[in-house]
Amino acid sequence: MIVTTKKLFEIAYGKYAIGAYNINNVEQIMGLFQGNIDSQAPFIIQISKGARSYTDTRMLEAMIRAADEIFPEAVFAVHLDHGDEKTCYNCIESGFYSSVMIDASSESFEENIAITKRVVNAAHPKNIVVEAELGQLGGVEEHVQVSEADAKLTNPDQAKEFVDRTGIDSLACAIGTSHGAFKFSGTQGLRFDVLSEIQKRLPGFPLVMHGSSSVPQEEVARINAAGGMLKGAKGVDADQFQKAATLGVTKINIDTDGRLVWTRVHREYFKEHPENFDLRPPGKLFMSEYAKFIASKNEKLGSAGQLAEVKKHL
Ligand code: G3H
Ligand code: 13P
Ligand code: ZN
Repeated sequence: MIVTTKKLFEIAYGKYAIGAYNINNVEQIMGLFQGNIDSQAPFIIQISKGARSYTDTRMLEAMIRAADEIFPEAVFAVHLDHGDEKTCYNCIESGFYSSVMIDASSESFEENIAITKRVVNAAHPKNIVVEAELGQLGGVEEHVQVSEADAKLTNPDQAKEFVDRTGIDSLACAIGTSHGAFKFSGTQGLRFDVLSEIQKRLPGFPLVMHGSSSVPQEEVARINAAGGMLKGAKGVDADQFQKAATLGVTKINIDTDGRLVWTRVHREYFKEHPENFDLRPPGKLFMSEYAKFIASKNEKLGSAGQLAEVKKHL
């Protein structure tokens, strides 16, 4: 059943975070639904612009609708990840998405507000909720000065003004993470001090954490042992998700970790079976490993076991 992220956030706020997982193909979709049912968790399917054009948006939509039929117990939101203005309108018009993200974070503060507000005005009359981003995610290198790095993080005072002036439903904050497999160097980590200041100014308002893959070291080691070259990859400590949830983070975005599962399964499979050229055995293995990965992430997020409670509120 497709629901809005707004509904899921109301139920989860302050207690746990909902996993927002990026998907591209049928094996990911099957593993995603299976893993969330196995762990009895509500979830968010994220579709990036790249995912929309990987095959065809109609293909992606049809596969998700089919999964909804195959797994009738599932409760999830369908969300556009990092949309530009045009793609947001496209998704709003399509009638399929329950939530869109407008990412105008690279624009000036005023321009970000103007663009975001236009998307909110188009989405809300159709009961579609809007996430927007303030601040800039990015890899923070050891040599970058603290003041320089801090300047890219979300400014808590601006966060309040941004939410008030745009009317958005959730805010993606830059609190030290970045996208991809190389997030931190040295001792850097999540900036709970900044997150806590944002929550003080926006009590009860759903916050979103992008760039939240953990990049498990055992996964990286297995990939490298099977021919990969991911030296120095490092991610967010998944044991910090619960603390982030108590500080208002209700949506945690994970893509890279799923890609690592895919890479590990396929590299190992073909290394161990050099004679094989059938796509189904590694595909089957990936679906099952991906389902296990989703279930274990949901344990860390605290969303595992929440499905029955969520259904009472729908
Ligand atoms: O934040 C970006 C997501 O990881 C999606 O990545 O644009 O390569 O699909 P993508
Ligand atoms: P990761 O690259 O850490 O998985 O982040 C994904 C993300 O933020 C998608 O919007
Ligand atoms: Zn992101």
